[in-house]
Amino acid sequence: MCGIVGYTGPKQASRILVEGLKRLEYRGYDSAGIAVREDDEAGGSQKPIVLIKKQGKIAELRKAVPKDMAGHAGIGHTRWATHGAVNDINAHPHLDASGKVAIVHNGIIENYMSLKEMLEKKGVVFISETDSEVIAHLVAYLYRGDLEAAVKAALGQLKGTYGIAVMHADEPGRIVGARNGSPLVVGIGDGEMLLASDVTAMLAHTKRVVYLNDGEVVSITPADFRISDLSDQAIDPKIDLVTWELGAIEKEGFSCYMEKEIFEQPESIERALSGRMDMEYGTVKFGGLNLSKKELLAIQRVRVIAAGTSWHAGLVGCHLFESIARLPAVSELASELRYRNPVVEPETLYFAVSQSGETADTLYAMREIQRRGGSVLGICNVVGSTIARESDGGVYVHSGPEIAVASTKAFTSQLAAFYLVTLAMARMHDMSHHEGVRFLENLKAVPELVRKTLGLRDHIQKIAKKYAHAKDFLFLGRGILYPIAMEGALKLKEISYIHAEGYAAGEIKHGPIALISPDTPSIFLVPNDHLREKTITSMKEIKARGGPVVAIAEEGDELVASIADDYIPVPKCDARFQPFTMVIPVQLFAYFCALELGRDVDQPRNLAKSVTVE
Ligand code: G6P
Repeated sequence: MCGIVGYTGPKQASRILVEGLKRLEYRGYDSAGIAVREDDEAGGSQKPIVLIKKQGKIAELRKAVPKDMAGHAGIGHTRWATHGAVNDINAHPHLDASGKVAIVHNGIIENYMSLKEMLEKKGVVFISETDSEVIAHLVAYLYRGDLEAAVKAALGQLKGTYGIAVMHADEPGRIVGARNGSPLVVGIGDGEMLLASDVTAMLAHTKRVVYLNDGEVVSITPADFRISDLSDQAIDPKIDLVTWELGAIEKEGFSCYMEKEIFEQPESIERALSGRMDMEYGTVKFGGLNLSKKELLAIQRVRVIAAGTSWHAGLVGCHLFESIARLPAVSELASELRYRNPVVEPETLYFAVSQSGETADTLYAMREIQRRGGSVLGICNVVGSTIARESDGGVYVHSGPEIAVASTKAFTSQLAAFYLVTLAMARMHDMSHHEGVRFLENLKAVPELVRKTLGLRDHIQKIAKKYAHAKDFLFLGRGILYPIAMEGALKLKEISYIHAEGYAAGEIKHGPIALISPDTPSIFLVPNDHLREKTITSMKEIKARGGPVVAIAEEGDELVASIADDYIPVPKCDARFQPFTMVIPVQLFAYFCALELGRDVDQPRNLAKSVTVE
């Protein structure tokens, strides 16, 4: 969703802002803009702060920004509309009436109507339909020669969530940022400072960062930064070093990020497993669970809270907890759980799963559980993200930055984390040392299995070309592959805009079979365990009604090959690990369908990578 970037230093601010916004494109947005404080000596301009905003892609903004734009401090924003239409006026930054205060804002100001009325009575004229504009006018109204003080005074009157960056024309080189519910990171450079909602926007300039906490305000100048709270108590900064390399946020020869991320999975899964497998004892080692063995042993049930693809990973995780660790487990949609007045029982372990670590639904559900005394472990990718920091412990999945909106490599790394945690729990209950070692051997083989499965690329592309113009698809699986069927349908919907449903194969006779016709292909995920024959029976039911069938099944499965119209043979492995070999073909299938239809694979319409509003 919305992104923020701010820069102050010796370089040309406009170039750094536009480049930073480009890095934030992946989050999803509909318009973008920058505000730059022109240097006094540059003269020329009518107003000391120059504002350029454009509806549409960053490329539009880039065209509108003069190559020689002067100014060494500025703020920029990508907007994902909530209040007001998508147009140049509603795009950020917003200025106050004098044109001296510029702000960018992520989040939602809940009491903006009453503040707007108050300011309008004082003669302030609003020009946009946004809730954010009120911040610019309020800061200007409260300004007495000290921007930091004015911002703090304004924040005292705001209700809602925000990550903001503010400049004042009379304080060249200074940018004030603040956070409450919407991430903001300070980047410490050499003679320059940055602010951003996401470290990817500043990775080209610095790796030394400070993640702001809710309620903190930062004031940056090229040489210095100061963090304090709203009552002006100074806060000692904790400086972190970002481990991501710049290359990780480049396409590196791939046509788009999604393709790159799909093909990176052997390595990203490897990273999720790395250093955590204890082959000698057939168990796992975690650094950050923050739970003693005794506490883990006392766990009687597991609940997972998540959204989207992370929820699907949670569904697989719950299957593992129940079947392997013998713990009852349920994966819940965070947006549902939060408002259900949930019962939080003792001896329950909660997991909040989130690639970004910022998804509002998951974050608020986690806080609700914690308020009721529950312990929540995070399974996150983004280090320093809100869920990672506020959870009671957890596991980083180390997939590296995931830029494409449709999640792929984070999903398989989340799965890897669940396999590890399941093993840890299973080994505390009834899994033997010998079985533990075997389980780890299987897990260790996963990156290679995934690599082999990726070799099916050309075959899958041909099949995708054949079916890409269908209007509806069913993805069908059973047992541990049912969530993978749901994930396959979600991937296809997200990036190709084809309607698809993920269904339990055994359930189709109770309704969805009515949809079957020669125009509605079904993608079957055929397991190699006791559910194989039952899945084949469902395939036959579809074939008998004239529905085309694409079957993803273990290599050498002649029976499946003879029934299906198209067969995708995946490498053989233990049935418990088939989610890894089955998800690759559905990711590739969605990707190639989207390509065939000429869709914007990395930035599909209406979607955002990190959904920070409810
Ligand atoms: C958005 C994204 C999905 C993602 C979901 C959860 O809807 O478009 O791809 O699965 O959020 O995101 P999270 O960062 O919490 O895993």
